[in-house]
Amino acid sequence: MTGLKLTDVSYSVDGTQLLHHINFAQDNKGINAILGPNGAGKSLLLSLIHGVIRPDMGLVTWDGVATHKNKHTRGFVFQTPIVLRRSVRANLAYPLKIIGKNSSAAIDDMLELSHLTALADQPAASLSGGEAQRMAIARALITRPTVLLLDEPCSNLDPASTKLIEAMIRTFVADSGSVYISTHDLAQAKRLADVVLFIEAGQLLEHKPAEDFFATPATPQARAYLSGDL
Ligand SMILES: Nc1ncnc2c1ncn2[C@@H]1O[C@H](COP(=O)(O)OP(=O)(O)OP(=O)(O)O)[C@@H](O)[C@H]1O
Ligand SMILES: [Mg+2]
Repeated sequence: MTGLKLTDVSYSVDGTQLLHHINFAQDNKGINAILGPNGAGKSLLLSLIHGVIRPDMGLVTWDGVATHKNKHTRGFVFQTPIVLRRSVRANLAYPLKIIGKNSSAAIDDMLELSHLTALADQPAASLSGGEAQRMAIARALITRPTVLLLDEPCSNLDPASTKLIEAMIRTFVADSGSVYISTHDLAQAKRLADVVLFIEAGQLLEHKPAEDFFATPATPQARAYLSGDL
């Protein structure tokens, strides 16, 4: 089996169960949007899918392999992007250094893709929110992952910055990468998503083609969320 598979996955902290018996399988292709209200469990689900946290019950596998064994094949950009206290270029060099590579061509490509070439030698701490988010995505892509996980990458960004990030996502997918993105921007989900995963109160309630989800949400919770009542 290729792709992602969650089998009866639950996750608890200090005895409180936050994700409940999640089951789904998804091929490695296209853009998967994780939707649901604040506190539903979207960030936790992304962390489990990546492998930075492990379920306390059940199994998460990519291509049949447990997540902690092939973490390096996935790039993860957190809800608040991490900015290392060094130049933009050095931020992009960092993951390459960790895997023993030093490719200035790869860095230049990523600077171009993220529209940050002119800011390459600026301290990353001086970047605007949108620029920092683009840098974090470029840094996640530089080791050529097969999957990109994005946690609300465009929250607080203006339409132009959002457009640049969506272009980065589309370029990655056109190069046969697959994406999992959480977002509260329903227009963005409609623009980007092939598949929707809808979660509420730690439960996966819907997993279906985006078109079907938006046209005919099956659960009262999804209907309420889409109409702004949840
Ligand atoms: N380490 C933790 N300890 C205790 N509770 C946690 C922990 N991490 C997450 N939670 C709780 O789990 C629930 C799901 O959190 P999560 O961050 O995944 O929500 P979310 O869907 O990403 O929400 P948002 O849209 O606000 O980002 C929340 O109620 C949160 O308070
Ligand atoms: Mg979150």
